[in-house]
Amino acid sequence: ILTKLQKECAAPLPVLRNVADAMTADMRAGLVVDGGGELKMILSYIDALPTGNERGLFYALDLGGTNFRVLRVQLGGQEERVQATEFEQVSIPQELMRGTSEELFDFIATGLAKFAEKEAGKFHLPQGRQREIGFTFSFPVKQTSIDSGILIKWTKGFSVSGTPGKDVVACLNEAMERQGLDMRVSALVNDTVGTLAGARYWDEDVMVAVILGTGTNACYVEQMDAIPKLQGNKSPSGRTIINTEWGAFSKGLPLTEFDIDMDAASINPGEQIYEKTISGMYLGEIVRRVLLKMAEEGALFGNSVPEKLSMPFVLRTPHICAMQQDYSEDLQAVGSTLYDVAGVESSLKARKVVIEVCDTIVKRGGRLAGAGIVSILQKIDEDSNGAIFGKRTVVAMDGGLYENYTQYRRYVHEAVTELLGTEISKNVVIEHTKDGSGIGAALLASANSKFDHDY
Ligand code: BG6
Ligand code: GLC
Repeated sequence: ILTKLQKECAAPLPVLRNVADAMTADMRAGLVVDGGGELKMILSYIDALPTGNERGLFYALDLGGTNFRVLRVQLGGQEERVQATEFEQVSIPQELMRGTSEELFDFIATGLAKFAEKEAGKFHLPQGRQREIGFTFSFPVKQTSIDSGILIKWTKGFSVSGTPGKDVVACLNEAMERQGLDMRVSALVNDTVGTLAGARYWDEDVMVAVILGTGTNACYVEQMDAIPKLQGNKSPSGRTIINTEWGAFSKGLPLTEFDIDMDAASINPGEQIYEKTISGMYLGEIVRRVLLKMAEEGALFGNSVPEKLSMPFVLRTPHICAMQQDYSEDLQAVGSTLYDVAGVESSLKARKVVIEVCDTIVKRGGRLAGAGIVSILQKIDEDSNGAIFGKRTVVAMDGGLYENYTQYRRYVHEAVTELLGTEISKNVVIEHTKDGSGIGAALLASANSKFDHDY
């Protein structure tokens, strides 16, 4: 089973190149017309990137990663930059991820109201001034303006009823009204877009932002001339940010029976195949499925099959990450993780096999993520007559998977270097910008504020 798995998951250079090229072509198709490719290539309605001149007090909401966050950011212009950031975070209760839209948005508005109460006395704001919010909402949203957008569908295990097809800002406004909160959303952004804005504030060479966390996605700075579906509607800057929603990609991916079964059992079968192959929500589950088959058909854990191993999602990506960080001779931590998580008693030989399985799945994920990064860089480069690969270009990166999983991170970097070659890849800097999306959303809220911020 292991040999077959390794063969089917292999992502050597030609496979990566094929994936990168197919994704670049798909990006182009999605820029011509909505639905032209698998990648939605969503317009962000952002026509000015952060400059450093932003001033004022802003709130940011960040929903869609592991944690729900509320932030308060004081921006002080060129001299003071980000003067203060305060935040609170909680994980979203499982039942809310499958409840009703009202319940979810009430939860967000309540969190915001509690947090906003703590502002009293800390900041001097003009009397009666409406607070403004940058709302990071990390799901596929068809933006209708910078401060409105319709949820296309849920991803990453969310299946809240009543939200798809609705304007998520209107949903939040209604919930804020129920809380008696008088605040206004000035910018609605995807987490990739927030990350790009947050990183670009400090570094003008940032052109791309990627999330490798629970889910995965990327956005980048695009020339408006290169977006036929804009039909000539251009802003003075001539540039905007495109949210690719690359998680929906599926062409040319090396998939196995385990991926196909996991997809079929998911709440969104046939969707988000790239995301299901490379992101944190799914890697542990793929490994569990492989181990279950090995236990059933190859007696990996002795003659009986550990019951808990049949439970979907019992083994999560942080568990396989922890096991791969066990460098001890007897793989003690691997043994105890398997026991604690799945009630599995394991021999040293079995533990070694488990590590091989984890590595196979994680290597495929990391390498394919690297191919995605290159697909975007080559798209920008082709359209700028080689202007990207000839100079320092920064990819802002966020997400728990990239941050915590050493091996995965190494595989991402290796794939990028293999695809670009050593010389060019020296110009490409992948920079971890932790938690930048909230500040990015606040910066974009400031750029779209309806008030003067001279304090
Ligand atoms: C956080 C960002 O740091 O990373 C979020 O603030 C983003 O906007 C998240 O969604 C993604 O990572 P994870 O691991 O939490 O899914
Ligand atoms: C999912 C969402 C996408 C988000 C990504 C990372 O793919 O659809 O909008 O950016 O996860 O959080």
